[in-house]
Amino acid sequence: MTDIKVELSHIKGFISENQLDTYKKKVAATFDTIYSRTGAGNDFLGWVNLPSSITADFIKDVKATAEALRKKSEVFVVVGIGGSYLGARAVIEALSNHFAQLVETGSPKIIYAGHNMSEDYMHDLIELLDKKEYSMTVISKSGTTTEPAVAFRILKNHIEKKYGKEEAKTRIVAITDKAKGALKVLSDSEGYKTYVVPDDVGGRYSVLTPVGLLPIAVAGIDIEKLVAGAQLMEKYCIDNQNDGNVAAQYAVARQALYHAGKTNEILVNYEPRLCYFSEWWKQLYGESEGKDGKGIFPASVTFTTDLHSMGQYIQEGLRNLMETVISVENPANDVRIPQDDANLDQMNYIAGRRLNDVNQTAEKATILAHVDGGVPNIRIAVPRIDANVLGQLIYFFEIGCALSGYMLEVNPFNQPGVEAYKKNMFALLGKPGYEELREKLLKR
Ligand code: PA5
Repeated sequence: MTDIKVELSHIKGFISENQLDTYKKKVAATFDTIYSRTGAGNDFLGWVNLPSSITADFIKDVKATAEALRKKSEVFVVVGIGGSYLGARAVIEALSNHFAQLVETGSPKIIYAGHNMSEDYMHDLIELLDKKEYSMTVISKSGTTTEPAVAFRILKNHIEKKYGKEEAKTRIVAITDKAKGALKVLSDSEGYKTYVVPDDVGGRYSVLTPVGLLPIAVAGIDIEKLVAGAQLMEKYCIDNQNDGNVAAQYAVARQALYHAGKTNEILVNYEPRLCYFSEWWKQLYGESEGKDGKGIFPASVTFTTDLHSMGQYIQEGLRNLMETVISVENPANDVRIPQDDANLDQMNYIAGRRLNDVNQTAEKATILAHVDGGVPNIRIAVPRIDANVLGQLIYFFEIGCALSGYMLEVNPFNQPGVEAYKKNMFALLGKPGYEELREKLLKR
């Protein structure tokens, strides 16, 4: 059984049983389309049986590589963008001390590059790396993405100057396509340790490949437990290809709500450590569903923080919103609110209670207020945040996305739209072959 529960009592009143039934009826066939690999984009369904295909030998190899990097690094730089860094960051931030960058954890500090083009970011990174012992991974499935390619060009230059070419080679791991792309060619010629991103796994579904597993292991997180959680959820989904499946319940609810006018979904958490999990989710759902003039727009908030900023809009703004709350039932620690004799803040009425009681009460109060304000709420409850539960959640959201995308009748595994800005950028930068487009753009 899975640890994930989906609660739908707070979408009632916004959609009828009939509206839900429209999508419930599609579940079994949609599961079949996924597992028999007969739908659109079926050459990118390698993630479907990925957890169960991960061997003990592979885990051992990744852990050995991670250990060698850990030993020589105060800082580990993950160079990648989109699906080539968000999964790793989601898991690392969810399972690390909130102040990991400031406290001694026994693990290298994980930092990121190649996910923006900011000159000031790169300047500060170089300045930091001048003073730290470091190593890095460069991750790009295509091996040609501009942001990580530019960042890696700068960092390769830096690490070779700092340590010499031979030592630098032992501090760089490349994760890329098995045969093609500039990064593959470079890695082969330099002799870097290299891991392969499987052909049939797209970037946003790649967190359980070396793309996610290597950085997560360098951070000191138990990748076996993460994979075990995903394996559990994979088995659960294979055994339960029906509308009672929790991932199917989620997909059905969001499709029914979307077709009832709730076109924007806000993923809500009450744990700041899940902030990057939401970023991963946004990419997964946004890139998978947003095409052909349709798709739910994915947004995210961290409560109660954002109740003091976005709360007003959610309560009373345009009524095209639905919320999906990731509710963590048990925190790992116990912090009580102290009694204060002066009681100037009038908080003694909650003295002695766990902070988590207040957090959970805020969650309940907010769901009810937002439902009253016209925002249906889906609640996804997990008992705790640990590597196993995160592994379950990763597969849950991946399969939920595939189900939802197929029900929406889009190909959830391509992303043709991301090419538009790239073409314009190449043309404006003066890349050979883009002269005609450049002329056109310069006239605008
Ligand atoms: O999901 C996707 O395919 C994208 O977000 C990619 O992960 C992202 O564009 C990076 O691509 P690459 O790994 O080829 O550098």
